[in-house]
Amino acid sequence: MKLVVKAGGYLFPSEIDTGDIRRFAAVMRQLRSRGHDIVIVTGGGFKARQYIEAVRRLGGDEAYCDEVGIRFARLNALLLISSLGDDAYPDVPETLQRLRAYHQHGKIVVLGGLQPGQSTNAVAALAAETVGADMLINATDVDGVYLKDPKKDPSARRLEEVSVKDLMRIVLDEKVEAGGYKLFDPIAIKIIERSKIPTWILNGRDPENILRVVEGGKVGTRVTF
Ligand SMILES: Nc1ncnc2c1ncn2[C@@H]1O[C@H](COP(=O)(O)OP(=O)(O)OP(=O)(O)O)[C@@H](O)[C@H]1O
Ligand SMILES: [Mg+2]
Repeated sequence: MKLVVKAGGYLFPSEIDTGDIRRFAAVMRQLRSRGHDIVIVTGGGFKARQYIEAVRRLGGDEAYCDEVGIRFARLNALLLISSLGDDAYPDVPETLQRLRAYHQHGKIVVLGGLQPGQSTNAVAALAAETVGADMLINATDVDGVYLKDPKKDPSARRLEEVSVKDLMRIVLDEKVEAGGYKLFDPIAIKIIERSKIPTWILNGRDPENILRVVEGGKVGTRVTF
């Protein structure tokens, strides 16, 4: 299968844990050894948000803040590439054209941000469109999509499935600003919707969840159309 995996910011906290990155990379290599074709999109993580906050306080506009976030996401892509060794294409594509070209080499391609105004979840959705992905797996730091942000409302219920329309309603409560894109931004949802990309949101803190979902296991939340 063609898989696009979004590695959320949880993998890139204030102190990078190389063990966590190695464990994530090991799962990706395992999937590749089983014949799957993989593209990984890395989020910005803690440092992106820290810098975005500082740049905003220093007077940077939102597009500029986004550009800062994009660069951090690309640095995170380099971290993952380091850990994937020969399984990864050695360069980070900065456009979808490049992604297309790199992807033809048959290795795991890792990319960060593309352009301001969208989250790396939108990048993952665009990457999934570009390679014709069979699955888009959004690995984040919660167990899936809840009716409300589970960090703010611990009693919120998790959904096994969410329609793309309901997902849009849920995320419209979130801010569309650099560093503030949470679970999904509206652009990401629109891309998933227009191309009917089979999408799952799951907890990547246990990277085995990614193996489970690829094998057809019930993990996280599935987006329906
Ligand atoms: N309805 C919801 N269901 C689940 N999580 C939600 C919801 N609304 C908001 N969230 C928040 O979204 C967070 C995940 O988004 P966040 O942007 O922090 O991580 P990410 O997208 O995986 O990483 P990054 O943005 O760095 O790439 C969760 O930790 C949760 O607090
Ligand atoms: Mg996010």
